[in-house]
Amino acid sequence: MDYEVLFNQLVTFIPQGITRKEAEILIKQFINNIKGQPLLRVMSIIAQQSEFTVEKMYDSIAQYYEAAFSERKHIMESLTLIKHNKRYSLAIDLGCGTGLSTQALLNIADFVIGLDISNNMLAKARKRIDSTKVKLLKADFTENIPKLEERADFIFSVGATRHIPEGKEFVFLENVVKLLKPGGESIITFVTPAENLGSAYLDYIIRNWMESKGLCERRFSVKEIKDLYSKTGLTITELKLKRSGFLYDKVFVCAVK
Ligand SMILES: C[S@@+](CC[C@H](N)C(=O)[O-])C[C@H]1O[C@@H](n2cnc3c(N)ncnc32)[C@H](O)[C@@H]1O
Repeated sequence: MDYEVLFNQLVTFIPQGITRKEAEILIKQFINNIKGQPLLRVMSIIAQQSEFTVEKMYDSIAQYYEAAFSERKHIMESLTLIKHNKRYSLAIDLGCGTGLSTQALLNIADFVIGLDISNNMLAKARKRIDSTKVKLLKADFTENIPKLEERADFIFSVGATRHIPEGKEFVFLENVVKLLKPGGESIITFVTPAENLGSAYLDYIIRNWMESKGLCERRFSVKEIKDLYSKTGLTITELKLKRSGFLYDKVFVCAVK
């Protein structure tokens, strides 16, 4: 595969503080490091589009998603933050994707509802999970989600808040509050800016490139997350920062309504 198109697009987003030459080296190293990996295939698909939406992007990459991204380990890691052995009656998975996270929730909940904006991701999830205890629905969590018949006692969202458009983060959290029972719990992951400078430059390049196509790649600092939660009916019970050493870091936020 020819990665020149991708390279030429990335190199137009040079962060302040480095030269074009340095940016070229960073990008070349990055492309070389992920050669042969599905992530590069996904990025090449994005490079071929001049304009995208999150929905269309996930529809286009649904078949490569599981091979390209390592959200799986974050799913299990997130669930270990639940300190008690309580079983939930209804769990909701916001941005359920191909159902990896939805399936994991079946271990702790009697019924699980997975919501996602992408039909192709949902189709993959339907193939993966054949259970009368799961309902998979198309919904946009940055819009007003209609109340469901029953409110959940657990809400989960892994790897999805990065796609929330600027200004819509409050709508997302209001949806969490609306869908939760009083006393209900939630675990939501966020992406924070990378601490490592090289990663931060590369992250800047990739994020700006994605945003130039109409795709959101949000980063939330710990302070922003705390401020945001303080304006909702959710109280943070634990916040765990995980350094990834690659592009960006992650934060796991446990909260109760
Ligand atoms: C990185 S994937 C994570 C999927 C799954 N939670 C996992 O851990 O494998 C992000 C998912 O969020 C979905 N998503 C992004 N924006 C959304 C929105 N506004 N409403 C609903 N789903 C959304 C995408 O379609 C995608 O399936």
